[in-house]
Amino acid sequence: MAIKILITGTSGLVGFRILVSALVDGHSVVATVRSREKEGLIRNNPAIQKLSVGARLIIAVIPDMTIDGAFDSALEGVSHIIHTGSPVPVPTFEPRSQVYEPTIRISSSLLTSALKTPTVRRVVITSSIVTNLGLNPSPTVAVSSSTRIPPLDPVPASFANPMEAYILAKIAEIHNTERFIKTQKPHFSLSYIMPGHVFGRNELITKADMMFGQNSSNNFLMPGMIGGELPFPIHGAFVHVDDLADIHLGVAMMDSSSPRDFGIACTVDYSTIFDHVEKAFPEAVSAGVFKRGTVPVLPVNYSSTEMGELLGRELKSFEEAVVDVAGQYLENLGWNSA
Ligand SMILES: NC(=O)c1ccc[n+]([C@@H]2O[C@H](COP(=O)([O-])OP(=O)(O)OC[C@H]3O[C@@H](n4cnc5c(N)ncnc54)[C@H](OP(=O)(O)O)[C@@H]3O)[C@@H](O)[C@H]2O)c1
Repeated sequence: MAIKILITGTSGLVGFRILVSALVDGHSVVATVRSREKEGLIRNNPAIQKLSVGARLIIAVIPDMTIDGAFDSALEGVSHIIHTGSPVPVPTFEPRSQVYEPTIRISSSLLTSALKTPTVRRVVITSSIVTNLGLNPSPTVAVSSSTRIPPLDPVPASFANPMEAYILAKIAEIHNTERFIKTQKPHFSLSYIMPGHVFGRNELITKADMMFGQNSSNNFLMPGMIGGELPFPIHGAFVHVDDLADIHLGVAMMDSSSPRDFGIACTVDYSTIFDHVEKAFPEAVSAGVFKRGTVPVLPVNYSSTEMGELLGRELKSFEEAVVDVAGQYLENLGWNSA
């Protein structure tokens, strides 16, 4: 059944991939962006152009999504919401104003607008496994999407770095949402999705140099395949972006009696990155385009939700994700083995 979905974060890795899948599935989409420039990037992207979606794609430009009523008009006639539009920390971000505050204020503003919109039936919010793992996860204690870390009260005056602000914001966001549901008793149902690191092809990336700094979590894979070392460890848990997009749409279509939250994070060993690249692209390795590098891992013990039934297929492997990213890098370099 075709529906009208509002998707936030469509200028990002996860949101854009969901946008493409939603349009391929025949749905109408209201895609929110912060600027006309981002609207142009989405409309003119080859992955969108080739779908000839016409009036099924509306792009709502909302410069500040943190303010009350920001989503009111964009939600007109919308039945489903998928909210991925939230800061993913980069080292240059100011932790409070660019990570913590927008994370909690955008979802609050969105839920308040949804409460005023009788057509909304279902809301899906992209969180992260860090919401369940907290700041100092133990590799021996298993956590899942139902694990809750108490929010810090009061909120610290400052944060050590953008990643700390991100983790504490994700924790605060889910507690705020649970309080909202309890107190407001909304007419829609809501699920959170907690992914591990998301890897895979990103159609928004059109130049090789964008793959190192503008490609969300895919940035982290690059040192492992072009030599060098990622300067910090990352959680050893991942999901392929294609699976994550299908999971978001599948969870959005569930009825309200379904379990609420879903964690998607397969254990991964980053020391295999170069092996996967070498197997798929031996000529590029021989030519020195790819070199073995290091991506330090932070071991975690996360129980994923079984999603095979929802997807109707196996989850994609880490090898597929690495080969997708490496293949896109070669395309963007214009590299030709002939
Ligand atoms: N990538 C991962 O490994 C991963 C893992 C777990 C969870 N997640 C979650 O998945 C979601 C999407 O992540 P992603 O990988 O797609 O990140 P991304 O590529 O950095 O995209 C982030 C999206 O959010 C928007 N955004 C960021 N800050 C905003 C703000 N202050 N106001 C309005 N919009 C803002 C961005 O818009 P602009 O283009 O205008 O900046 C962009 O559309 C996030 O909630 C993230 O926490 C991601």
